[in-house]
Amino acid sequence: MALNKTFLLNSFVLFLCLIGIYSVPAFAAVKKYQFDIQVKNVSRLCHAKPIVTVNGRFPGPTIYVREGDRVLVNVTNNAQYNMSIHWHGLKQFRNGWADGPAYITQCPIKTGHSYTYDFNVTGQRGTLWWHAHIFWLRATVYGAIVIMPKEGIPFPFPQPHREEVLILGEWWNNDVEKVVKQGNLLGLPPNASDAHTINGKPGPLFPCSEKHTFAMEVEHGKTYLLRIINAALNDELFFAIAGHNMTVVEIDAVYTKPFTTQAILIAPGQTTNVLVQATQSPNRYFMAARPFMDAPVAVDNKTATAILQYKGIPTTLLPILPQLPSPNDTEFALSYNGKLKSLNTPQFPANVPLKVDRHLFYTIGLGINPCPTCLNGTQLTASLNNISFVMPQVGLLQAHYFNIPGVFRLDFPDNPPTPFNYTGAPLTANLGTTRGTRLSRIAYNSTVQLVLQDTNLLTVESHPFHLHGYNFFVVGTGTGNFDPKKDPAKFNLVDPPERNTVGVPTGGWTAIRFRADNPGVWFMHCHLELHTGWGLKTAFVVENGKGPDQSILPPPKDLPPC
Ligand SMILES: *[C@@H]1O[C@H](CO)[C@@H](O)[C@H](O)[C@H]1NC(C)=O
Ligand SMILES: *[C@@H]1O[C@H](CO)[C@@H](O)[C@H](O)[C@H]1NC(C)=O
Ligand SMILES: *[C@@H]1O[C@H](CO)[C@@H](O)[C@H](O)[C@H]1NC(C)=O
Ligand SMILES: *[C@@H]1O[C@H](CO)[C@@H](O)[C@H](O)[C@H]1NC(C)=O
Ligand SMILES: *[C@@H]1O[C@H](CO)[C@@H](O)[C@H](O)[C@H]1NC(C)=O
Ligand SMILES: *[C@@H]1O[C@H](CO)[C@@H](O)[C@H](O)[C@H]1NC(C)=O
Ligand SMILES: *[C@@H]1O[C@H](CO)[C@@H](O)[C@H](O)[C@H]1NC(C)=O
Ligand SMILES: *[C@@H]1O[C@H](CO)[C@@H](O)[C@H](O)[C@H]1NC(C)=O
Ligand SMILES: *[C@@H]1O[C@H](CO)[C@@H](O)[C@H](O)[C@H]1NC(C)=O
Ligand SMILES: *[C@@H]1O[C@H](CO)[C@@H](O)[C@H](O)[C@H]1NC(C)=O
Ligand SMILES: *[C@@H]1O[C@H](CO)[C@@H](O)[C@H](O)[C@H]1NC(C)=O
Ligand SMILES: *[C@@H]1O[C@H](CO)[C@@H](O)[C@H](O)[C@H]1NC(C)=O
Repeated sequence: MALNKTFLLNSFVLFLCLIGIYSVPAFAAVKKYQFDIQVKNVSRLCHAKPIVTVNGRFPGPTIYVREGDRVLVNVTNNAQYNMSIHWHGLKQFRNGWADGPAYITQCPIKTGHSYTYDFNVTGQRGTLWWHAHIFWLRATVYGAIVIMPKEGIPFPFPQPHREEVLILGEWWNNDVEKVVKQGNLLGLPPNASDAHTINGKPGPLFPCSEKHTFAMEVEHGKTYLLRIINAALNDELFFAIAGHNMTVVEIDAVYTKPFTTQAILIAPGQTTNVLVQATQSPNRYFMAARPFMDAPVAVDNKTATAILQYKGIPTTLLPILPQLPSPNDTEFALSYNGKLKSLNTPQFPANVPLKVDRHLFYTIGLGINPCPTCLNGTQLTASLNNISFVMPQVGLLQAHYFNIPGVFRLDFPDNPPTPFNYTGAPLTANLGTTRGTRLSRIAYNSTVQLVLQDTNLLTVESHPFHLHGYNFFVVGTGTGNFDPKKDPAKFNLVDPPERNTVGVPTGGWTAIRFRADNPGVWFMHCHLELHTGWGLKTAFVVENGKGPDQSILPPPKDLPPC
């Protein structure tokens, strides 16, 4: 009966489509959310402090949508800070106005003002997330985005009994903006966080945290889908569940070929969906997250825990801890990332660009600049191709759309100014960097290959890079210097992982490819907030195409002014 009704309705819509009346996608729902940015006292690790929240919640509310929906989020700023929200991983086709990075695609929403982010969720399903995109406010302003497949379309993996969002984060006992300000004044990295968290809670390995422990109950024999998000500011994380393996089925809202693993690695900005079977002896098991850090810098091994609790088991039992890879386990990291492959089926193809129109090679460098007022007379900095990015005073997208002169230059170089032995002996000389708001112009619908090369300027380190407005294919990665003659032969052009954030390995390189079919100004940056602040960022200006649906949409009327 119900089937018949649907059939009739579909036939009617098809009929309207055929006669050209009905051109919008059928049955797309409009999902509305109200986000009130407000300050709230929250207590963790024996300290209470005011934090910036959405609707007084920490983490903030989950956005639930279906592929094809239109989303309207009215963000009202009732905090004393300027605010903007980024919908991390949503492609925002022609619609950079809703992307969110402050001074890149919009000016911030000032205290007492509102802005409605209006976007469609097209061609994506899975887990993404949202977060503040101004200074370090994303430390507490973040939440999940769950995109369900279209009605009636199943997951391409066993249907879980239930699902749970697990957001990994960091907690500072002090006001985060104060911590950053102090670091900048001294010219040093700001204090590391005091705890890692799972769904905002550090778990019982931290002081006063017994009552701040996230727990999920499972029934024996059932399968669960965990939507894991790394919202940490500065740490790549290992995550594992005692006694249970996980089957990875999706990353960054793209289905993968399933594989089973005892631990996952997840960089800030990335998401990973895993299936877990509750088939072990009924007990309480810790889920745990701890940093991966294989660079010769201070290692933070603080471990956040949550509890996987079998139904009917007394909550007084002490849970079992999982074995996480050691913090410097490079081998595990490389092997894990090597297992990630796109599903690449006819229904979910991997459309990897095979021919490259534009070759880009960007070096990642840390450096020291003079700073007479700083503690050591110096200040840490970071650069791409020797350029440390300077934030503009107005949104770059507006400057591009309205042709406002003098805001940015379009001369970001395709290659580093001087080739050198990038990952050779540590270089401390010649660390000077050029500062500027310099972007790269990309022709509409051209195919781009970008090789991100870590360097030993000051130190090697891994860097998770995030590109706004696009997914890209991770076609290759390696240690040492990228070899343009030999390495491309080893690229995976069949089923490489497709994502929006990728880790460039410590002292190594990563090659990505994408088709520039989304016009706009798209930010690209290291997702370690520490490095973003030091200038490890740039943006692409993707030109409009000539066709009717190939140019940037007009800006919304309520776009915040500067
Ligand atoms: C979203 O989709 C609707 C229906 O097709 C369309 O009218 C609207 O312009 C789209 N919005 C954006 C921002 O693309
Ligand atoms: C938050 O806590 C501080 C003390 O830690 C207190 O002075 C302040 O009034 C509290 N604010 C709210 C909104 O409860
Ligand atoms: C957004 O929310 C604010 C505060 O509730 C309200 O004043 C404003 O009218 C809303 N804007 C829209 C477009 O609904
Ligand atoms: C940073 O840490 C140092 C040493 O623990 C401490 O003295 C200082 O107050 C901290 N700074 C901030 C802003 O929390
Ligand atoms: C998890 O996977 C490992 C390695 O494949 C295997 O040895 C182990 O038995 C598995 N554990 C469970 C609980 O399935
Ligand atoms: C973290 O490292 C310290 C010092 O190396 C060590 O004492 C401590 O046991 C480690 N903690 C964890 C949870 O691994
Ligand atoms: C990793 O760390 C452990 C413990 O600190 C150390 O013994 C080991 O040598 C390190 N391994 C590498 C490859 O650096
Ligand atoms: C100041 O610089 C010296 C030499 O580069 C370094 O050893 C020292 O750690 C620095 N001091 C601080 C507080 O970073
Ligand atoms: C780069 O430096 C490494 C380490 O010092 C060295 O082994 C390698 O030979 C150097 N490569 C070139 C091309 O000079
Ligand atoms: C970077 O730029 C500065 C300033 O123009 C220059 O002095 C330095 O040599 C450059 N460094 C490299 C590695 O190209
Ligand atoms: C982009 O280029 C590809 C390959 O030339 C072509 O198939 C596709 O239709 C183009 N897309 C647009 C929107 O122009
Ligand atoms: C907030 O943003 C506006 C517009 O860009 C700017 O003029 C103002 O200085 C900012 N305020 C703060 C506290 O950063």
